[in-house]
Amino acid sequence: MNIAVAGTGYVGLVTGTCLAEMGQTVVCFDVQKEKIAALQQRRSPIYEPGLEQLIQKNMSAGRLSFTADEKKAYGEADIVFLAVGTPEQEDGSANLTYIEEAVRSIARNMEKDVIIVTKSTVPVGTNERIRQMMERLKPPFLRISVVSNPEFLREGSAIHDWFYGDRIVIGASKEDEEAVAVVAKLYEPLGIPMMKTDLASAEMIKYASNAFLATKISFINEIANICEKVGATIDDVAYGIGLDKRIGPQFLQAGIGYGGSCFPKDTKALVQIAGNVQHRFELLEAVIQVNNKQQSMLVEKAKQYVGCLRGKKIALLGLAFKPNTDDVREAASLVIANQLIGEGATVVAYDPIAVDNAKKHFPPSVQYADAIIEAIRGADAAFIVTEWDEIKRTPLSVFREHMRTPIVLDGRNCYSPEEARRSHVTYISIGRAPVLAGVYQTE
Ligand code: UDX
Repeated sequence: MNIAVAGTGYVGLVTGTCLAEMGQTVVCFDVQKEKIAALQQRRSPIYEPGLEQLIQKNMSAGRLSFTADEKKAYGEADIVFLAVGTPEQEDGSANLTYIEEAVRSIARNMEKDVIIVTKSTVPVGTNERIRQMMERLKPPFLRISVVSNPEFLREGSAIHDWFYGDRIVIGASKEDEEAVAVVAKLYEPLGIPMMKTDLASAEMIKYASNAFLATKISFINEIANICEKVGATIDDVAYGIGLDKRIGPQFLQAGIGYGGSCFPKDTKALVQIAGNVQHRFELLEAVIQVNNKQQSMLVEKAKQYVGCLRGKKIALLGLAFKPNTDDVREAASLVIANQLIGEGATVVAYDPIAVDNAKKHFPPSVQYADAIIEAIRGADAAFIVTEWDEIKRTPLSVFREHMRTPIVLDGRNCYSPEEARRSHVTYISIGRAPVLAGVYQTE
């Protein structure tokens, strides 16, 4: 079986590499020639734990290759995984240009019957459109099948999620049952529960999953905001509700909101998908609003404790939208950096690996430090935006020693209020009572 993967972003690269690791012969295609050149040199263009090693291992074994040549990619392919981006358009809907380009390219170059497996997150009905396009454009003597196979990989643990995912969803129309069997066989060695359904339901499962998880986060963030006002502690509240098996303990970590390449984009796209069929998805609209509010809340809090931010040195710790990735797409750090710069503060940022990406997206006046201590030295306040281990391992006493005024605004609840009290730090976190250094000292 020859497998081609269209697109070498997170999804495509992880899919291609993991399929090769499972013993398949895989060629990954991308229109971005620099990306392919780097991959041919065995360098991963993204940071994902374990990925580069797996790329190198499978290239050496001759199972994995990269090309910017459409013919080489699709000419011999029996299966093509579509893993190109579906970026957000101004109105929130998904841009399908890359999908259409890939479909045209497959149709132009295919020399065998081909199964198209869509991994990209696409609006309901897109796979049916892909089928119609392919039927129109393919050579008449060849057959195509279209299968929807959404991915549920988390950045930072994508390789683990590939091999130990909770489920594999395979959607197809009745006439493509043979293709479903072929795709199911590919995944069989993983031993992951598999569900088969129709195309539209498979497409919907992806959006509904991400919307539900985003809802869980906005829900717990709102509970945290109320906790602060009524004197409850979010840690205990989240733990207490998570013990109910119907609710479960995951995705109840209150913080400064969700970011990344999926939740913000997919929630907005689902609101659009619903709107297109005259259904207003009010619950999801509220989830998005709560998240926007949550991302900008910490700067408002800072003003209460620091006063006017103009001319103040502010440390921004963590730029990636979550730990173990260098991805800053839709990260809360970007919202906070813009707000702080707007208030006239000097922002000194630190992140163990996301700085190169941040430099492309953040306001140019943001300065970058090479170490946590360098960022917080002489600072008037420090914002913790990503819960990197390196940040969590830095005791609050270090902030006390190096900052001009030890005010820590922790958007990820990395420390306990007890530690803040012991360290004589003013510590503002999410869903817990503030710890005020001065107040403690007089106690
Ligand atoms: C998500 C989905 O988990 C994955 O299944 C899908 O395929 C792609 O989108 P990802 O965006 O990589 O994955 O990261 P995830 O770990 O889900 O976190 C998303 C955001 O939610 C991060 O900003 C994270 O900080 C935030 N989050 C997560 C919380 O604020 N609280 C939580 O309890 C969990």
